[in-house]
Amino acid sequence: MNDDQFRQLLGYFDFSWAGYRKVRKGVKKRIGRHMMALGCEDLASYLSVLESDDASRLECDRLMTVSISRFFRDRRLWEGLREEILPPLVRGRGEPFRVWSAGCAGGEEAYSFHMMWALLKESLSSMPEVVIIATDLNEECLERARAGVYTPGSLREVSKGLRKRFFETLVKGQRYGVKPFLKENICWERHQLLGAPPGDGFHIILLRNNVMTYFQEPLRVEVLNQVISSLAPSGLLVLGARERLPESVHGMVALPDYPFIYRKEPG
Ligand SMILES: C[S@@+](CC[C@H](N)C(=O)[O-])C[C@H]1O[C@@H](n2cnc3c(N)ncnc32)[C@H](O)[C@@H]1O
Repeated sequence: MNDDQFRQLLGYFDFSWAGYRKVRKGVKKRIGRHMMALGCEDLASYLSVLESDDASRLECDRLMTVSISRFFRDRRLWEGLREEILPPLVRGRGEPFRVWSAGCAGGEEAYSFHMMWALLKESLSSMPEVVIIATDLNEECLERARAGVYTPGSLREVSKGLRKRFFETLVKGQRYGVKPFLKENICWERHQLLGAPPGDGFHIILLRNNVMTYFQEPLRVEVLNQVISSLAPSGLLVLGARERLPESVHGMVALPDYPFIYRKEPG
């Protein structure tokens, strides 16, 4: 598959060329193998199979997903949440604090949140229970997340102290497993972001490095509005550090100093 054909395929799904530019080699390879398995010699015949066969389209959609992630990706976000943003929101709250990690890849983001929550507990006297719903389209990602086993590359932003506290060494220098208590309070679910959200009243939604990177408008706006509808009043939407909401999304205000975190305006 050449770049022109890949662009056409991206157009079929409303996905963004700019977003896929750096990762296109691997994705094209996966799609090429899928085309061969379906006996499609050119893009036109592949698109016609995708049009007529739901299972093939779903599989193609899954093969298009990019599941790059790591623990505490964007250090500034995690420091900001712990030191500045979360304390006034959670101190003394009675009801559970609801978090949605949307497009959670192999679970690195959801576990990072749970680790940060454990650290926050040490500095605040009264904290609510946390409930984390972590979803992804890709079942293989969810299996990895449930297992909670990672290579050193995923832990490269985890300090030695935190590694000791939150991980078990399974094979020295090769495999690290999250400690079992971190798996509590996380519910892993297969979920397609184009569909209805997996719940409502979320106090924080982490929607990082997926919709704003890989989708193009108008799909972005459609998905963003659905996702935002599941936020509690004044709930926070967190994007990737370099991602920003399109102007056509209303009712969300960026936090001072954190242009990638938005608060839902009440009403
Ligand atoms: C690049 S990873 C980002 C992981 C994590 N949020 C982070 O920032 O480190 C994008 C994830 O979004 C998921 N994803 C992409 N499109 C999706 C969709 N339409 N519905 C649900 N998940 C999707 C992919 O499977 C992948 O695991």
